Amino acid sequence: MSRRSIIFLLALVCASQAVSFFDLVIEEWNTFKVQHKKKYDSSTEEKFRMKIFMENRKKIAKHNARFEQGEVSFKLALNEYGDMLHYEFADMMNGFNRTKNKKNYDLHKPLGATFISPANVELPDKVDWRDQGAVTEVKNQGSCGSCWSFSATGSLEGQHFRKTGVLTSLSEQNLIDCSAKYGNDGCNGGMMDFAFQYIRDNGGIDTEASYPYEAEDDQCRYAPAASGATDSGFVDVPRGSERRLMEAVATIGPISVAIDAGHESFQFYQSGVYFEPQCSNETLDHGVLVVGYGTTDDGSDYWLIKNSWGTTWGEGGYIKMTRNKDNHCGVATQASYPLV
Ligand SMILES: *[C@@H]1O[C@H](CO)[C@@H](O)[C@H](O)[C@H]1NC(C)=O
Ligand SMILES: *[C@@H]1O[C@H](CO)[C@@H](O)[C@H](O)[C@H]1NC(C)=O
Repeated sequence: MSRRSIIFLLALVCASQAVSFFDLVIEEWNTFKVQHKKKYDSSTEEKFRMKIFMENRKKIAKHNARFEQGEVSFKLALNEYGDMLHYEFADMMNGFNRTKNKKNYDLHKPLGATFISPANVELPDKVDWRDQGAVTEVKNQGSCGSCWSFSATGSLEGQHFRKTGVLTSLSEQNLIDCSAKYGNDGCNGGMMDFAFQYIRDNGGIDTEASYPYEAEDDQCRYAPAASGATDSGFVDVPRGSERRLMEAVATIGPISVAIDAGHESFQFYQSGVYFEPQCSNETLDHGVLVVGYGTTDDGSDYWLIKNSWGTTWGEGGYIKMTRNKDNHCGVATQASYPLV
């Protein structure tokens, strides 16, 4: 819809019914801008953003009406990404296995240790590693395709906690700035296994406090004295097996996974058990952290997943994703964790 037709449409609606409709939308838009500290370079840009906001708002309302009818299992909400087109958003945020230099990936094919299924144990029906104190606060990657670094620090934070009893937040910026040689490409994308290899060879990763996040590529400033944890390699969970992933999450700790997050429904997820008919279980574009699993009161199996898009997205930064349905969105396709 062009700008002119939007204005025309609004004028029509205003003339024919609720006098305050336009005011209402403007009010909502102003609230959104204040709430999320939005600043635009020009009034043209702002009009463009407002148009996207209104279209997203409409799509979300439509989806939520279907939720009320029981046709879909999750709700959407306008969050801080409400003024972005979907492809813009995915391009900015989804940096798993995406780089300008594809050759890097072939050069650095990481080789993980073998996952051995735990024997003689009965897995619980529900796991949430947050209850054990193994998960740091939800972080925010900002406008940088560094999801892979947050996924990697998340599982190492968990393993380090299980080893030492101390939960230490680790530096994503350290990985962004220093692991290019291992096949990562900072804000342009990367993979968790490359990060684990870097940390092993480097002999450590700095703490978040000593090497804070910048959301942009910068010089490598790793300082051994500020190291917060290290690893001695990593384990790949067998590709595509939700049973093996369940075993790993239950008995090891939070696990790094890659998923297909390339859908509008993911951008605006708010609550419920996420199921996206368009989801692929092979084309993965986003690195996240599985911190548990369970089953809802109405019988839907889910994975409990920590994202790195701040706490205003999803359930305080978390999402429940469908479990035991053909490896939905590829959650079990590329799962791994560091050895400590
Ligand atoms: C990463 O990308 C390469 C090249 O596009 C592809 O061949 C490979 O299968 C991808 N790996 C994963 C784990 O998605
Ligand atoms: C993806 O799902 C299909 C069924 O829809 C299944 O046959 C296939 O094995 C799955 N692939 C992976 C990698 O899990």
